Amino acid sequence: MIACVTAIKPHPISPERSVPDSIARPAYVGKSRPEQYDGPHVQSPETITKMRRAGRIAAQAIEVGATLIAPGVTTDAIDAAIHDFLVANDAYPSTLGYRGFPKSCCTSVNEVICHGIPDARPLADGDLLKIDVTAFVDGVHGDNCATFGVGEIDEDSRLLMERTKEAMERGIRAVRPGREISVIGRVIESFAKRFDYGVVREYTGHGVHSAFHSGLVIPHYDNPLYNEVIEPGMTFTVEPMLALGNPSSHVWDDGWTVVTNDGSRVAQWETTLVVTDDGAEVLTIA
Ligand code: MF3
Ligand code: CO
Ligand code: CO
Repeated sequence: MIACVTAIKPHPISPERSVPDSIARPAYVGKSRPEQYDGPHVQSPETITKMRRAGRIAAQAIEVGATLIAPGVTTDAIDAAIHDFLVANDAYPSTLGYRGFPKSCCTSVNEVICHGIPDARPLADGDLLKIDVTAFVDGVHGDNCATFGVGEIDEDSRLLMERTKEAMERGIRAVRPGREISVIGRVIESFAKRFDYGVVREYTGHGVHSAFHSGLVIPHYDNPLYNEVIEPGMTFTVEPMLALGNPSSHVWDDGWTVVTNDGSRVAQWETTLVVTDDGAEVLTIA
């Protein structure tokens, strides 16, 4: 069944939302780009404790946004609710002012792979909506994303959503000290291939802690060149983007919105995790 007949188009973006001065901002806010992180990939127990809190708030923020999802609701309204929730919890919305990104979360609909800007487009019955929230609390970030159906969604979209979540979970289960980073993408890609889903390659998981994107790259496809060995205390995201069709993409003129070239729908799930002695602990739990 063909679900989507209308391509997503840009809509007006509302004025910038404010954050009280009492909430600490990441150092990149107000700059064109963040400074390069050159610290360790392994984090201290103190940092990990803080990340549990940032992760929890980021996960709760998605839940808050999700309660609004319905045909006719704009992604800007979802952004407003997420923004207000983060600020009420003394969290800074990490995306707001990150390399100039204008909003407090990413809302990516249907063929938008990621980095969709919340705007005045009303959600339509049958849309597939990805909400990606990152919270900055006490000097660290927690980053997560989930996919939702708007109203009634078609079976292909529902399965894509469900299986992309399972792909992420399988990737997380593959995390173990002593293995190479590449094992994560190998597991995700082999699962995606069973269903003939396209795996997005240009956008990846990443190290996250005091830095939003630390420079550690976690591909979601099989690439043995990513042979860095996984160690306890490493913190990073696993955030596969799977497409019903071809995963090749381009970016809109807004410099952000990433869409599939063939218009095929995409689902994405993301969690932030810390490597433990025998696996991984998910930090973005509501
Ligand atoms: N949260 C996204 C990620 O998973 C990054 C968004 S950056 C933005 O890495 F600038 F697009 F918001
Ligand atoms: Co991320
Ligand atoms: Co994210």
